[in-house]
Amino acid sequence: MRIEFRTEPLTHVPTSALVVFGFEGSPASSGTAARLPSEVHAALEELQAARELTGKNYECTLLHRPAGLAAQKLLVVGAGKKEKFSAAHLRRLAGCAGRYLRARGIRELAWVLESNGAEPKAVQAIVEGAILADYDGDRYRTEREGERRIDFLSLATGSGTPGESIQAALERARIIAEAQNFTRDLVNEPSNRMTPTRLAEQVQEMAAHFGLECQVLGTQEIHELRMGAFWAVAQGSDEPPRLIILRYAPPDAPEAPVVGLIGKGITFDTGGISIKPSENLHEMKTDMAGGAAMLAVMQVLAQLKPRLRVVAVVPATENMPSGKAAKPGDVVTSMSGKTIEILNTDAEGRLLLADALTYAKQLGCTVLIDAATLTSAITIALGNTTTGVFGWNQEWVNRVLASAAAAGEKMWQMPLDDDYRELYKSAIADLANTGGRFGGAITAAMFVGEFAGDTPWVHLDIAGTRWSNEEKPDLAKGPTGAAVRTLVHLLMNLAS
Ligand code: BES
Ligand code: ZN
Ligand code: MN
Repeated sequence: MRIEFRTEPLTHVPTSALVVFGFEGSPASSGTAARLPSEVHAALEELQAARELTGKNYECTLLHRPAGLAAQKLLVVGAGKKEKFSAAHLRRLAGCAGRYLRARGIRELAWVLESNGAEPKAVQAIVEGAILADYDGDRYRTEREGERRIDFLSLATGSGTPGESIQAALERARIIAEAQNFTRDLVNEPSNRMTPTRLAEQVQEMAAHFGLECQVLGTQEIHELRMGAFWAVAQGSDEPPRLIILRYAPPDAPEAPVVGLIGKGITFDTGGISIKPSENLHEMKTDMAGGAAMLAVMQVLAQLKPRLRVVAVVPATENMPSGKAAKPGDVVTSMSGKTIEILNTDAEGRLLLADALTYAKQLGCTVLIDAATLTSAITIALGNTTTGVFGWNQEWVNRVLASAAAAGEKMWQMPLDDDYRELYKSAIADLANTGGRFGGAITAAMFVGEFAGDTPWVHLDIAGTRWSNEEKPDLAKGPTGAAVRTLVHLLMNLAS
């Protein structure tokens, strides 16, 4: 997508579709619709009187050959209630406009900025919204609807060239949104095309392209590192596991902190011997969404170049039943030395995260953040819109929550409490890998936290948010790229 600022008067912008928004109640004369010249304004007033234009959220009204404008069409997007307006909302409005127009074969649009002194935050949201909207998951359809794309986005100021901070916001937005779409591509890929080996290869390609240090370990090294918990999951599959490590360490970065980003990388989760029912089982190709998010964050860092040390660790494997698979009741020794009784082979995510956290600490990480499609329990608690945030260190949890709010992702803190420890005690080993159905997202998180020890740690359960089962006005059905923008915001903030 080509993206440019335009500085001529709004009436003169040569485009297929000029886009404005207006608020509920008075859409013709509020928001950026208020910036239009009087001839168009009259037409909008007429539509408003006829109740064809209400300003309700995501309402799209398309005018052809608008009077007094060089643009071929004018799109008015409903912005909903003015009190609820925010940068996050602007992101979704831009996405909504993009999807509405491309569905009609319009490949070019000019978004009218609120004023020529638009804020960087607003520009970032608009550009992110447009790029994220211009994504569809149907990559293997031979005649793709997705070929309807937005080729060209103009940001119309109406007058004056935007300042440097605004230009920088555009570039930053492009880098972040493209990385989020990279995550969506990885998550969307079916498991026959996204084995642990293939995932590692794609990461190596990405790392070479962006100049990140990449290391990929295989079965033998996993044994040498004594990652008994990771191996317990990997041993059942014919596909060999991979431990993917990416390092970002610019020479001018301070020694501390070293942030560890750990992502669950199950390329397919059958449940193993504790096999899952076949209904919706195909969705388990997305069980590497946490890992894919961390890889995308690294891709962003390589381009935005903050002064900060970050290491990503992504253990990748399938979780399969077979003659070699781990069985319920098996006891394994994790890399940390803690022994684990595997009561349910479908609680595999916490097993590989246990060893990946231990390894990240060994690599020198001083703060750990993990993202994982860890439990169905989190979807019962928070649904598909909100990511669960867990951690004992409230300062770091707050940082993540603040970043989520700024990046326009919904996240909510879940409780941790020592009393839950009783639930995942084992009669034979140090820990059991399940704590039962009640509080399932909490006991899973706490199990992972046991391996963080004293190192500050935050866990994001993205099982509900990794995928959207429905088409939204601003986003395609399918992979969402959850957590990418939040983590980028957190790390950029940490560096500045
Ligand atoms: N990958 C699943 C969790 C999941 C469920 C992700 C739905 C995305 C959508 C995870 O490995 C799992 O199977 N968790 C079990 C744990 C249970 C056996 C303690 C679950 O949540 O049912
Ligand atoms: Zn899983
Ligand atoms: Mn599972």
